[in-house]
Amino acid sequence: MSEIKKIKEEYLLRLDKVLDQYKLNEIKTELFGKNGIISNKFKQLGSIDEDKRKEFASELNVLKNELQDLILKKNENIQNQEINKKLKDDNIDVTLPGRSYFAGKIHPVSQVIDEVTSIFSEIGFSVEEGPDVESEYYNFSALNTPENHPARDMHDTFYLHHSKDFLLRTHTSPVQIRTMLKSKPPFKIIAPGRTYRCDSDQTHSPMFHQLEGLHIDKNINMGHLKGCLYYFVKKFFEVDKVKIRFRPSHFPFTEPSAEVDIGYKIQNGKIKIGEGNKWLEILGCGMVHPNVLKNVKVNPKKYQGYAFGVGIDRLAMLKYGINDLRAFFENDIRWLEFYGFDPLDVPTNYRGLSR
Ligand code: PHE
Repeated sequence: MSEIKKIKEEYLLRLDKVLDQYKLNEIKTELFGKNGIISNKFKQLGSIDEDKRKEFASELNVLKNELQDLILKKNENIQNQEINKKLKDDNIDVTLPGRSYFAGKIHPVSQVIDEVTSIFSEIGFSVEEGPDVESEYYNFSALNTPENHPARDMHDTFYLHHSKDFLLRTHTSPVQIRTMLKSKPPFKIIAPGRTYRCDSDQTHSPMFHQLEGLHIDKNINMGHLKGCLYYFVKKFFEVDKVKIRFRPSHFPFTEPSAEVDIGYKIQNGKIKIGEGNKWLEILGCGMVHPNVLKNVKVNPKKYQGYAFGVGIDRLAMLKYGINDLRAFFENDIRWLEFYGFDPLDVPTNYRGLSR
């Protein structure tokens, strides 16, 4: 039997028995790989006597084509078999209902931070941030808060590791210090973020949110502070007429200091901002104390300005009619579904109850 015939018979038999892709590839390499039987035969053509070469070459070509065709066919068969097997084994139940998915909601606190940030950025405030874990120096001392001030009391402040050096910041005011230390005046910044105090009832939670504001420049006075806060309150509550009351107060880091109340009334069980004769406190503010400026190496004779700290959660409760602060942080998905905001909506008015 000729050599060609022998190869043919052997491989026809073997290919017939092949059942999977892996084995088929093995045979393919054996025949046509770099050192494959057929490949080598072609390489040897040159050393065959001239009179036999032509015949051998044509026989070899026929064999090559035959085997290649067979391998292709076999390949197709195996693939079809695999698909059929998969279809048979993987039972797809087309009657099962589709998997539903829910769109997430923006938490009212995040929503209000976005709204407030965009209002202040329109009048030139940029955003700064500070850490939740603060040193006693930034949170109190640099802010002109003496060692024996009641705000430092263990009952209000969460101290870390039983040390008095590190604590969870009790307000966002330390960001004033951080901002002024890292560059030169003028400063015009807001700083939103989490704050902590050991307190918990319907309107206080141990973690809450504030937004700090600081504006330091030459010739800044209390009129600027009032103008800025009026502008903010009108924009935020989307009312033209607002009633605001500046009530004398005390903060160690401002002089003079004030608390700002906003006028409101309850109508048909709903809160109406800017009307009526009830007052609600929304922020603390004042002219930055010269001692604070000295602590951050700003000359108080040349530069002055104002600072304020707004309760973000309080703003959210007022604007969107939410009456229990604790619900903000209980992570009840049904609450968020109700009071949250659609991510793609432009922030306008309250939509929670109208749904
Ligand atoms: N840090 C003050 C508080 O938490 C608020 C405040 C900020 C007052 C800035 C004056 C100036 O109560």
